[in-house]
Amino acid sequence: MLFSKLQVLALGLTLASEVTARAVDVDTESMYSRQQDLVTWDDHSLFVRGERVMVFSGEFHPFRLPVPGLWLDVLQKIKASGYNCISIYIDWFLLEGEPGEFRAEGIFDLQPFFDAAKQAGLYVLARPGPYINAEVSGGGFPGWLSRVPGALRTNTDEFIGATDNYIKEISKVIAKNQISNEGPVILLQIENEYQHALDGYDMPSYDYWNSVKGQFRDTDIAVPIINNEAHQYGYITAHTPASVDIYGHDGYPLGFDCENPQSWPEDGLPTDWLAINNEIAPDTPYTIPEFQGGGFQHWGQAGFANCALLLNMEFERVLYKNNYAVGATIFNIYMIYGGTNWGNLGGHMGFTSYDYGAQITEERQLWREKYSEVKLQANFFHVSPAFLEADRFNSSLQFTDNDAITVTPATTNSTNFYIARHTDYRNTESVPYRLTVKTVDHGEIDIPQLGDSLVMNRRDSKIHVSDYPVGDKHVIYSSAEVFTWKKYDDKTILVVYGGPDEHHELAVANDDSDFSILAGSEGENISVQSTKDDYTIISWDISDDPEDRKVVRVHSDFYIYMLNRNEAYNFWVPPTGAGSDYGTSDVILKAGYLMRTAQVDGTTLHLVGDVNATTPIEIIGGAPAELEALTFNGRSLQFTQSNFGVVKATVDFEAPDIKLPCLSHLQWKKIDSLPELSGDYDDSAWVDANLEESPNDRYPIKTHVSLRAGDYGFHTGSVLFRGHFTANGKESSFEIEPQGGSASGSSLWLDDTFLGSYLGEAGVVNGTITADIPALEDGSEHVFTLVMDHMGLHDNYVVGEDMLKDPRGIQTYDFPGHKSSDIAWKITGNLGGEQYADKVRGPLNEGGLFVERQGFHQPSAPTGAWDEGKPTDGMSEPGITYYTATFDLDISEGYDVPLAFKFDDDVSDGVYRAQLYVNGYQYGKFVPLMGPQYRFPIHEGILNHHGENTIGITIWAQERGGAKPKGLGWDVSMVTETGFGQIELSPAPRWEEREGAY
Ligand code: GAL
Repeated sequence: MLFSKLQVLALGLTLASEVTARAVDVDTESMYSRQQDLVTWDDHSLFVRGERVMVFSGEFHPFRLPVPGLWLDVLQKIKASGYNCISIYIDWFLLEGEPGEFRAEGIFDLQPFFDAAKQAGLYVLARPGPYINAEVSGGGFPGWLSRVPGALRTNTDEFIGATDNYIKEISKVIAKNQISNEGPVILLQIENEYQHALDGYDMPSYDYWNSVKGQFRDTDIAVPIINNEAHQYGYITAHTPASVDIYGHDGYPLGFDCENPQSWPEDGLPTDWLAINNEIAPDTPYTIPEFQGGGFQHWGQAGFANCALLLNMEFERVLYKNNYAVGATIFNIYMIYGGTNWGNLGGHMGFTSYDYGAQITEERQLWREKYSEVKLQANFFHVSPAFLEADRFNSSLQFTDNDAITVTPATTNSTNFYIARHTDYRNTESVPYRLTVKTVDHGEIDIPQLGDSLVMNRRDSKIHVSDYPVGDKHVIYSSAEVFTWKKYDDKTILVVYGGPDEHHELAVANDDSDFSILAGSEGENISVQSTKDDYTIISWDISDDPEDRKVVRVHSDFYIYMLNRNEAYNFWVPPTGAGSDYGTSDVILKAGYLMRTAQVDGTTLHLVGDVNATTPIEIIGGAPAELEALTFNGRSLQFTQSNFGVVKATVDFEAPDIKLPCLSHLQWKKIDSLPELSGDYDDSAWVDANLEESPNDRYPIKTHVSLRAGDYGFHTGSVLFRGHFTANGKESSFEIEPQGGSASGSSLWLDDTFLGSYLGEAGVVNGTITADIPALEDGSEHVFTLVMDHMGLHDNYVVGEDMLKDPRGIQTYDFPGHKSSDIAWKITGNLGGEQYADKVRGPLNEGGLFVERQGFHQPSAPTGAWDEGKPTDGMSEPGITYYTATFDLDISEGYDVPLAFKFDDDVSDGVYRAQLYVNGYQYGKFVPLMGPQYRFPIHEGILNHHGENTIGITIWAQERGGAKPKGLGWDVSMVTETGFGQIELSPAPRWEEREGAY
């Protein structure tokens, strides 16, 4: 979230006066970086093992996909589109939910992730925080930090001390996977957008920064350290008293208004970044550790489909190319795969899905055009090393004849790049323009020479080139954009593309002037002309036929493919799949949905990929000259090979027969999850809420004892309170203010009498329940039971605001006729609190409902004596009921069949909240009153596609008269045949009687 600097809020904030400042060594200035020479840099780019690299990276949070068996799948999809790096946040809260106990096993073990990254051929930018923001609960800070005195993210012994264990442990894991140990990690980012503070706090605090950096450097972390300022303030650069090796800043220029996906903000295009970067970081590569790849969404907002529209392929063309224009050569797109806020890991503002409208959907699918668009861009960098060396200049009107087009040049002594866009970047009109390019041998050339103009259709931007080397061939200029090229022993292939209804021109030096048009109609949609200046111009029009292509052979061995962009989308330059191969293979081919790897083995070519339809394959380069065998996912394909070496084959696709059990016909069992309402309920095992002072120093408590869940170690899921009192006979009303975070709800009972609910409101963290109290007998004993939905903790973005400490629990209550202390409170959240019961699914997965405390949401709960009943039967009274059923799935092997559970969002039969459990993992928090999410994808691996599954649903009816959910069903997304192979199931321990469960 990008806030401007905030003023101190009138909240009675405690300043960090009683805490101890940590002594800091003088910054030892990159001492450790110099101990390794594998990752170095200059002002233009990073070098890995001495070679310049464009770090083209996408953000992926392993913890948002709790199926290690699927990590390689997503990483291969990232790699296949041309990325060579991924950036990962690491969520401290999930790894040290219990203070002092770092637990990173099973789904939390990062070693398989690093191994998969290496196998896929992706470098890693590790971002362990300790603060990460990331729309996760607490911004990655464990809930128990709310009890650490003083301001968080400042240089106090208390705060730094609290981070020591985590940093020590996580550093070991990262260090082991550094490039110097043959691992994929090449960069480390510490902290996150450390830039905003309330007045009264140092910003930046160099002492703080040096402490954090020292903590990491004191371990074996040797790769360069970078930062990510939210805006280019230059607080911490290579030259400030506390430094980073490489300075970086983030950018989310289109914002998050996904309600209006067509509307780009007027001043959204950054135009001053280059100038500022030249001021503050002139000698490090231009680094953007986070650039918008989609958008987050909150309760009640438009939803991610809309974000995918706002941040679509046009956004990528215009905004990403604008970054390349300023020279961003360490570039990370946030997110490339968003994933899921399963098990309460999300912050309170967000809902379960974290799809983000990213290139890869939450269900790991690639059908968004933005995925294919970035594939075109990323591949360009693999074959355009000159782009990394080019000097950058400000954008200008001087290269075109039309002021409506602005061009940013990037030049070297020979090769030049011209990044053209609409001057008003939001323009959706078609704008004709001519472009002047510089060439070494032919001086300035005004293009097109054989047509009137180029054209910029809709929102677009293009990278035109001049003096562009293609192996030992030379392209004098091309208005069409380069996708890829390869030089083989017997030929060179260049693939360029342009959009529908565009005119393009490309010129090559004459040699023997032998041109053949292999596809296209001379004089109609393509023409080839030699000039007196000894070069030849190919000029062509692109139709709106999505498969439109022209092919010209020059000099007998230089094949130029000129594709409609939509045709180019189907082309791939797959990786070899050999571990630690951070480049691509030599194979260029047209295929369908996904090409994961291409491996040449003698005279055999092995392709691995996914198809969603019968798919023609056309290998235009890289197949062995005398191909003897071609396989796709291990099976042999019939093929032909032309004289030019082009191989053609077809991959047949047969849709599997998918049989899903009808959910309403399952043998559902149910159990009341609010036994607390029964008269003889014994809550003696609950925690006494007896802290007269809160260890959370954000502001003083307003009740006689702390009723903040975090003070008692409860940070996740539902929290329940029991307030015992002796009546005096004069009770008439009761008012209580629970604070569960955005969109939270709560319900209140007196003994077994329902008093009312607060239904919640998106963006509002607390609400009030006001109730009339029935006549009570003087001296009689009673108990209030309050259930509060804990939506997650606030993040901790602004230093000094300490929003992590914004408590969850009862803020205040008013019981006329009684003192606050007349009520003796008990509290419970998840069983064990910070000593959480389920070490496998982690510290946040389960909340404090009776069924969760008992572990009944896991498979094999003791349902023998439970009643029969299904969620859609409905409840006639307010309360909480848990429903569970088992079913088998038998999905055909070899297919990726993404399954989701879909609720009906109609609450006309009563407002309710629901939680969905799949094999013990909380995989959905459904709040129909808020929306927008009502469809909950369940990853294979959580769902067993080839065996038994347990589904569990808590329905919390919040209104008098109960609630009746209108429907629950399956939803199947696009089915593909996949070459990925079998997916290992995530561990799903079964129910066992829990010691001490109440
Ligand atoms: C950035 C922040 C990320 C994430 C993003 C929005 O400012 O660094 O962690 O919160 O905003 O999705």
